[in-house]
Amino acid sequence: MNQTAIQEASSYIKKHLSGEPAIGLILGSGLGVLAEEIQHAVHLPYKDIPHFPESTVSGHKGQLVAGQLEGKQVIAMQGRFHYYEGYNMQQVTFPVRVMKELGIDSLIVTNAAGGINQDFEPGDLMLITDHINNMGDNPLIGKNDDALGVRFPDMSLAYNRELNQYAESAAEELGLKIQKGVYVGNSGPVYETPAEVRMLRTIGGDAVGMSTVPEVITAAHAGIRVLGISCISNMAAGILDQPLTHSEVIETTGKVREDFLRFVKKILSQLP
Ligand code: HPA
Repeated sequence: MNQTAIQEASSYIKKHLSGEPAIGLILGSGLGVLAEEIQHAVHLPYKDIPHFPESTVSGHKGQLVAGQLEGKQVIAMQGRFHYYEGYNMQQVTFPVRVMKELGIDSLIVTNAAGGINQDFEPGDLMLITDHINNMGDNPLIGKNDDALGVRFPDMSLAYNRELNQYAESAAEELGLKIQKGVYVGNSGPVYETPAEVRMLRTIGGDAVGMSTVPEVITAAHAGIRVLGISCISNMAAGILDQPLTHSEVIETTGKVREDFLRFVKKILSQLP
């Protein structure tokens, strides 16, 4: 994505902000409520921000919310752009570039995901330790802009260990049981077939969803530290003898919302 567009979007946003955000938040399906806890909040609908695409899926609000959360300057995406909506990878990841330009050094990415690991249950929260890009595309394909990052970025520490340690100790303090695992990013919009879920388990996946991977690749390219949290909204296809629906995903995320809010707020409060 070209630098002029990044700068135009970020200078529009900057005009409306009082402080510089340090931490970005991407709030997935049903998890956007966290943005409502932001204090001294400034709301910027995506449609008003130059070069921002518009969100189309239900359960996603489509605005940036900036302000303070647990004493930290944050900027949250209430709703994200999905590849399955028809946006290209550059559009999906454009907000990460803009948040970097605004000054963030850490990004907390959240999503709803299907549990592949049979030790998981719907309602679990999973700390993402690593991912598998199964989308068949990559946001960094094309000419590399060296000002944004290197041509061949290292992905071995895409999910920051130090942030994961903060998250683990936050969970411990809250007495919250959390899972850890590998997130598989699929393009969607279909849920997986049972055979695909067995394949994803074989290749090392613990949870599967339709987002996050492009944003994390872009964050790695941009040198942003990432913490990823999946809300296991359902068991992936074929594990339980029942069909999957978007309303089930929204319903379960609704049930763990309180744990999710307490968890992320505790992590933020403990970050230096
Ligand atoms: N598969 C893919 N994406 C998802 C799922 C799932 O089972 N649940 C929530 N997002």
